[in-house]
Amino acid sequence: MKVISTIAEMRAALKDERLAGRTIGLVPTMGYLHIGHLALVRHARQSCDVTVASIFVNPTQFGPNEDLSTYPRNLERDLKLLEAEGVDYVFTPDAAEIYRPGAETIVETTHLSRILIGRIRPGHFRGVTTVVSKLFNIVQPERAFFGEKDYQQLAIIRRMVTDLDIPVEVVGVPTVREEDGLACSSRNALLTPEDRKAAVVLSKAVAAAEALAAGGERSVAAIRKTMLKVLEAEPRGAVEAVDIRDAEDLSKVAGKFDKPVVVLLTVRFGKVRLIDQRVIGL
Ligand code: PAJ
Repeated sequence: MKVISTIAEMRAALKDERLAGRTIGLVPTMGYLHIGHLALVRHARQSCDVTVASIFVNPTQFGPNEDLSTYPRNLERDLKLLEAEGVDYVFTPDAAEIYRPGAETIVETTHLSRILIGRIRPGHFRGVTTVVSKLFNIVQPERAFFGEKDYQQLAIIRRMVTDLDIPVEVVGVPTVREEDGLACSSRNALLTPEDRKAAVVLSKAVAAAEALAAGGERSVAAIRKTMLKVLEAEPRGAVEAVDIRDAEDLSKVAGKFDKPVVVLLTVRFGKVRLIDQRVIGL
């Protein structure tokens, strides 16, 4: 496994792989890896000859009062995990390598980046799409792998790739969960032990929505009401958003739905914001 921190070296190494006819898979991450990230790596390994993982805590996707400085980091451990998974290259640039003096170009989905989490975190998705398009240009992968856990992020990246004719196949990977159901997240490490226990309420609310839909319930209001009831039974979590949207384009749905919808949750425990999602009504 080669660890590379400059764009020039990354390009040179991958040029040789491409000349040898090998397909390249990219797994972008911000590090502090867990089994969710490793599931993406496994998908990449299965469908591509060469697997590249990037580790970059992207400053432009954090707001001024967000957790950039406290975002958990452990490069040494991350590299061991990636090596054990058989990753070929790890791209570990620093911020000065990615954002050079005078940079002023951004990539942004003008609607999808402003709804849902984009309303709570203005500018967040602009940072994501800008850095992901730069990573696509640096690595030029055939395929790139993203988690369904960050459902809106995945939808936005698909939109960007379509809109800008980027020749990358975006692959969505199902959410990997802890034993109690909590979706794996680097931010889980920031929870107090009490909040960690209480955080199971997100997956409980999502499971309640799924059970209702499986039983034939199609009313947005009824499903939302049940989810809120589950969430409000746990006073440690501050519910920031419970949304039920069209699973494909995240548009609003009202009344009863007749095609798949996605339930999207954002709940804060202290300063730690957790999300979860599930597509229901399939
Ligand atoms: P990060 O939060 O490190 O996540 C990297 C990738 O892992 C994302 O595609 C995310 O959806 C996926 N992932 C996280 N938790 C997961 C889980 N429990 N199951 C399955 N996949 C999971 O998302 C980012 O970084 C950044 O925004 C990034 C795309 C790297 C751009 O900076």
